[in-house]
Amino acid sequence: MAIATATSVSIARAARQLQAGELVAFPTETVYGLGADATNSEAVARIFAAKGRPHFNPLIIHVLDIEAARALGQFNATATRLAETFWPGPLTLVVKKMPDAGIADLATPGLETIALRSPAHPVARAVLAQAGRPIAAPSANRSGRVSPTLACHVEADLGREVSMILDGGSAVHGLESTVIDASREPARLLRPGAIAADAIEAVLGCPLARGDRDDAERPSSPGQLARHYAPHARLRLDAHEVLPGEVQLAFGPALMSDGMIINLSPSGDLVEAAAVLFASLRALDEAGAAAVAVMPIPHRGLGEAINDRLRRAATPED
Ligand code: TXA
Ligand code: MG
Repeated sequence: MAIATATSVSIARAARQLQAGELVAFPTETVYGLGADATNSEAVARIFAAKGRPHFNPLIIHVLDIEAARALGQFNATATRLAETFWPGPLTLVVKKMPDAGIADLATPGLETIALRSPAHPVARAVLAQAGRPIAAPSANRSGRVSPTLACHVEADLGREVSMILDGGSAVHGLESTVIDASREPARLLRPGAIAADAIEAVLGCPLARGDRDDAERPSSPGQLARHYAPHARLRLDAHEVLPGEVQLAFGPALMSDGMIINLSPSGDLVEAAAVLFASLRALDEAGAAAVAVMPIPHRGLGEAINDRLRRAATPED
């Protein structure tokens, strides 16, 4: 049984498991979160594997307070005002990411921004304080299922994927945090949530821009990806041989070739491949690669999201 009643002992264990790169579900005041060390790429990759997400959507990074948040993102006047008013609480602020934030690429895939939230729930806060690092946590449900408000909901959905589920009773709001993009003027409501938009507008003294909900769900449009993550090299997907002049992006045992090889996972492990995917695409540019042969990557598990990203990265810039 993965469920443990939240006590000082079980919270300390949860913090150690997070530090060790394992997944821990914990209560917040909105819904239960599926937590992982946000600085550990493999741990973050495991979140996507556990949720069965077909894409690498950006994750909310949970921090104890605004001081911790400032190490990860740039707080302009709007972000500062909102954090001072609503934190700790169910408000997520999208701000410009610090260049040296040290957050796993997969948590903010292809974006120059980062979503930050300081939760109010005492169990979430105790976990953050003891783990001593930022925690990436989407809602602890499988992709396409509703967000969990009780530990038993998490167990039904993800019981086999997590090391531990901290039971802190029922999540109070039962509705996710409100997501505000404070990186642009005027600030934009990306996801309505537990804090009403008018309460935020009253603090700002001006209306929020309202976006298409799709913007929030899929902020890494192919255009953004082309700017930030598509390597300059031309990618040839599902390659079964390496042509002269091509660099090889391998998965599993590499193909015969005279050229350079970057291997996403020599052992053919999809979690490892996801964890190094973005760094590998950058390495292709650093190596000055012009053409890349990408070996086939299976479509099971995280392979679906990896193939999705590679397909976009292979789309030429217009
Ligand atoms: O209440 C909550 O926010 C819960 C608890 C666990 O804290 N978490 C949660 O996470 O709902 P998730 O992953 O299910 O939702 C994350 C939302 C998505 O709509 C995502 O697109 C948006 O935040 N998001 C994350 N990073 C973003 C970014 N850099 N720019 C725009 N939107 C972003
Ligand atoms: Mg969710």
